[in-house]
Amino acid sequence: MTVNKTSRWDAADYGRNAAFVPALGAPVVELLAPQAGERILDLGCGDGALTVKLVEAGAIVTGVDASPAMVEAAQARGLDAHVADGQQLTFPPEFDAVFSNAALHWMLDPAAVARGVFRALKPGGRFVGEMGGQGNIATLRAALHAELAERGYSMPGGDPQWYAAPDEFRAVYEAAGFVDVVAHLIPRPTPLPAGVAGWLKTFRTGFLDSAAVPDEEQAGVAQAVERRLESAFRQPDGRWLADYVRLRFSMRKPH
Ligand code: BEZ
Repeated sequence: MTVNKTSRWDAADYGRNAAFVPALGAPVVELLAPQAGERILDLGCGDGALTVKLVEAGAIVTGVDASPAMVEAAQARGLDAHVADGQQLTFPPEFDAVFSNAALHWMLDPAAVARGVFRALKPGGRFVGEMGGQGNIATLRAALHAELAERGYSMPGGDPQWYAAPDEFRAVYEAAGFVDVVAHLIPRPTPLPAGVAGWLKTFRTGFLDSAAVPDEEQAGVAQAVERRLESAFRQPDGRWLADYVRLRFSMRKPH
């Protein structure tokens, strides 16, 4: 089992700097079209900001996330949320739908995820979601890696995330038994409300830990990476736009 060890999440910081994650998740909730009374599993629910939307639609929702801090934040919103590794799901076929936003790219054994999601769905159930896709944050990652290399840090395991191409994604899910697998890439330049440095603090602290960057140097690294990206990401109005690419998908388990 391959587990991504480069995540360390701070729920309060995430709530401040990553509000765009659930905000930009609205179209994928629309694609899911949650119905009142449906049982839905939110895979990688994070702090539950988007899970709440499924509950508001009248669905009966269970959230799972690998981060205890995020699950605690989701529970504080009154959600039914549990700590679980998406690569080791053990749910029987009890869900009408599985939903996932901005989470699957952290799970490095996609075939294991696909098997667990397939098992968790009732016959005819659907899996709908969005994740980082091929090319996601390539410029951002390159700048971070260049800064770390210049400072003499090595990156254990090479900073792995699964930013799948549509064909690769389809092949994994068809092999698990899904049908009607639709997957496509959506380039989505994404505003970073706290700039590149704030984004790095929210999303890459665990990675900087794993590269053995001392806590007291992490802010300096973040500022230096931000400077490297000034010309690529800074807009004339002062906003920072990062090179996000989403892979949006839907599929169903056969009857
Ligand atoms: C993403 O949603 O694509 C993402 C978020 C944080 C770090 C890396 C990727």
